[in-house]
Parts: sequence; structure tokens; C-alpha cells
Amino acid sequence: TVLIIDFGSQVTQLIARRVREEGVYSEVVPFQKSAEAFARIKPKAVILSGGPASVPDGDSPRAPQAVFEAGIPVLGICYGQMTMAEQLGGAVESGHHREFGRATVTVKAPSALFDGVWQEGEGHTVWMSHGDRITALPEGFTVKGTSANAPFAVIEDEARRFYGLMFHPEVVHTPDGARLISNFVRKVARLEGSWTMGAFKDAAIAKIRAQVGTGRVICGLSGGVDSAVAAVLIHEAIGDQLTCVFVDHGLMRLGEAEQVVSLFRNTYNIPLVHADASDLFLRELAGVTDPEAKRKTIGRLFIDVFDAEAKTVGGADFLAQGTLYPDVIESVSFTGGPSVTIKSHHNVGGLPERMNMTLVEPLRDLFKDEVRALGRELGLPESFVGRHPFPGPGLAIRCPGEITREKLDILRQADAIYLEEIRAAGLYDIIWQAFAVLLPVRTVGVMGDGRTYDHVLALRAVTSVDGMTADFYPFDMTFLGRTATRIINEVRGINRVVYDVTSKPPGTIEWE
Ligand code: XMP
Repeated sequence: TVLIIDFGSQVTQLIARRVREEGVYSEVVPFQKSAEAFARIKPKAVILSGGPASVPDGDSPRAPQAVFEAGIPVLGICYGQMTMAEQLGGAVESGHHREFGRATVTVKAPSALFDGVWQEGEGHTVWMSHGDRITALPEGFTVKGTSANAPFAVIEDEARRFYGLMFHPEVVHTPDGARLISNFVRKVARLEGSWTMGAFKDAAIAKIRAQVGTGRVICGLSGGVDSAVAAVLIHEAIGDQLTCVFVDHGLMRLGEAEQVVSLFRNTYNIPLVHADASDLFLRELAGVTDPEAKRKTIGRLFIDVFDAEAKTVGGADFLAQGTLYPDVIESVSFTGGPSVTIKSHHNVGGLPERMNMTLVEPLRDLFKDEVRALGRELGLPESFVGRHPFPGPGLAIRCPGEITREKLDILRQADAIYLEEIRAAGLYDIIWQAFAVLLPVRTVGVMGDGRTYDHVLALRAVTSVDGMTADFYPFDMTFLGRTATRIINEVRGINRVVYDVTSKPPGTIEWE
């Protein structure tokens, strides 16, 4: 086990993720509980995370001193580096040279951390985010890398295997960061990469059993991957103590609602209440054209319907949710600047407050692709697990303007053809997200000998890592032409197809 002591950085879970990628088990504990956890877990290595506090402040957090006395390797990142330096007898001072964002580290001497990655004399891009800096090194430490404003950007005590980085190796903005962490885990700490998603599953099941005991759990399904994986995992842990409620808002893609119902009822035999609320949703959405108003209406109705159905199930003690780690950090921006709500993504944000139940969130530490891997581990079909992300408000935000059942039907058919062509071309897994948008614009066309006056359909496809930024996918024109022809021929109500060539930023992925 690698113990990660969390000093409150917003990206601590990324460190855990990088360690998991090395096939090594890690546990993240908040610094307040780290002394107890260190004694209990007896880790083979420790990583000290970054954090917002300032070491020169008297009451700022520290690592348990025992961490430095156990003869195991320690990696301090950012705040973790500074508290390590201070705790081992060095000096830290509040920086007048604050460094945020991209910086260049110059490699001054070889280090086990740099093995096979960085050579002496080279300069490398890293992501800095710190206000303080070290002014005197503790005994035994030498400098391995510097940056313009940080003479101690990389420090090392070779004998004791203590490493300190002033920058964040865990974020993608430090391109070689994952390899530095890999070197720490594999080469310095010599840990074997044998941990798997199967092991995560077993640990998660044990945790759920311990939390829930003999209590009853209710889980709201949205039709998406996250809530489905959470539900199947919880069902493995506690069987029929779990009841699922699928709130069907009628805004899913073609055939998806049916797939969810059949998967749960037939494949997994999980008790499922299918609340078909599409009439209610459509009625309440009538006349709503503002994107945020659509989201709020759908979020409110989802909670109403779920609450009502939960009452009919009767007496659950726990509410299960498929919350992922990015949902937890989403609204907080990493650089510490003010974050602005571009779109409100928390579709069911009000549920826990309203229902007064204890939350069970077994996916809280995972990222999307890890949830997919867990879903595969649980035997969910690839056609379900590998699906592109789909927004909670569904097709409602892919029909700019007013939503009607007729428009949704047109959009569903066109979207299905588009995705079928993408799959046939072998592009589905290369593209991060693809979908059609039915525009509230009619244009004139000619079909056969007749004039048509029908809707325009926009096609969207992007590549992305995490949905935060995205590039439009450069289809070849033959593909686009073939797809447009099929859609116009096969779907009544569309006579023109356009392709969206906007990246994010400045566009968002969805049109609303
Ligand atoms: P944008 O459009 O903000 O989308 O670039 C980024 C990712 O988020 C999804 N998205 C949503 N997901 N509720 C969700 O659960 C929402 O209201 C919502 N809006 C956008 C979008 O599909 C993309 O994957």
C-alpha cells in the first residue's frame, strides 16, 4: 500500500489514480487522520499531497513525524514538499515569488525519479502552483532540479529515499509527471504492479457491507453508466437489500430505456421500479426554451418522481448515488481562481438534502474510465459500459428551443443513424462523444419533384480526455456525405444536415 496524506489539494485523487495506474494499491487519508492510518496500514511508501495552507503559519498541518522515521520512501508534492523540508530541519518562507501555471524545470543532477525520463541539463514543462518556498534544505538533501522562481524545485535525500517536488506531477499539464510517479512507486519503493480493478471491487464490496449492515438501500438510476455500475456493485455486496428506481424522463436515446430495464430485471435480477414519467416531463417542459430552465425543471422533476417512488418502496435507510470524483471537484477550479458556472451539471443535487438518508457513494474516488473498467469487471456488457457520456437532461438539451414529443422522435432516429455509421466506420471508441442536435430552424429543400420545408440537423463529434476541453473530430467528407444522405432519406422531418467544427473552448460540447 501507498499511503497518500491529503493536505487538501483539489487534485489529491489524481495522485491516487496515477498510483492505481501502476497497479499499486493506495489509500488517501486526510492529514487529521494520518497518524492513526499510518500506524494501522503500515504502508510501503508515503506521498504527501499539496494543499492550500502555508507552512510558515504556525498552525498549518504537518505529516506525522513517524512517516520520516519508518525507513520507507516519501514523496512530498508542493505543500507536502514544504512541510517535509520544515519537519526535517530545513526552512520555508512565505514566497514573494509566487508561481502558478506552466513553468520549466531544469534538471541539475540525475535522480531515481528521473530514471529513463529526464536527463541532466534538460528543461521540462511542469505545472506549478505555490506561494511559499524552501530557503534552507534539511541535512542530507541535495537539489536535483530548479525553476526560475524555485531554486529547490526538485530535492532528494538519496540515502533516506525522500523526494520533494515543488510542482504537481499528478496533473496532465506536467507531461512527464505520471512517469515520475511511476518511478517513485516502481523503482524507488520497488512495489509490484499486481493490484487490479478486481481487487478494488472486493474492497468496495467489503466497505459497502460494513457501512450498510442490514439496512435497506435505494438507488436512483438515470440510465447512464455511473448509476448503473454503482447499483450492480451494491447489489453484489448486499443483494436484495437494494431496490433501484429508474426515473424514465423520456429523454433517452433510441432503445436505451428498454436496455436499462432489461439489463437490471433479466440479466442481474435486481429489484427495479420503472417509473415512466415521460408525460409528466414533457408537460412540464412545454414552453421552456432557456437551457438552464430546462436543466432546473428536469432536476426538480427527477427528485419529485424519485421521492414519490421511494415512498412506495418503503423505508430505505441509505441512498446510493453514482457520484464520481470529477463530480466532487467539478465546481472548484484547480488554479484557485473564481469558478463560474457555465452549465449547472448537478442534476440531482437536491436529492440527499430532501430525502434525509445516509449516502452510499462507492464510486466517489474513481474517474470515468475507471468506472467503465469496474463495470466490465462486474460483467456489464461492453455496449453499455463503453457508451459515450450522456448528459443527465438528455435529449432536452439537444433540441434547442421548445421540446415536443415529435421533435424528440425525429432526433432519436437521426441520432441512431449517425451513431450506427460511426460504429460501422470503426470510429466509436476513438471519438469521445458524438451526437445529433435538432435545430429549431427550417430550411427549404427539394425531394423528388416536391418542395420540402423541414428541420436542420447538426452533427457533433469531439475528442477529449475529460470533457473539460475538446476538439471537433475531423471526419472525412465521404463519411459525412454518406451519413447526411442516410439521415435525410430515412428520417421524415429533416432535409438538411450540417457538421459542427467548433472546439471547446470557445464552444461547449453540448449546444445548450
Ligand atoms: P459541455 O457542454 O459543458 O459538456 O462542454 C461537457 C460534458 O458534460 C456533459 N453535460 C452534462 N452532463 N448534466 C450532465 O450530467 C448536464 O446538465 C450536462 N451538460 C453537459 C456533456 O454531455 C459533456 O460530456
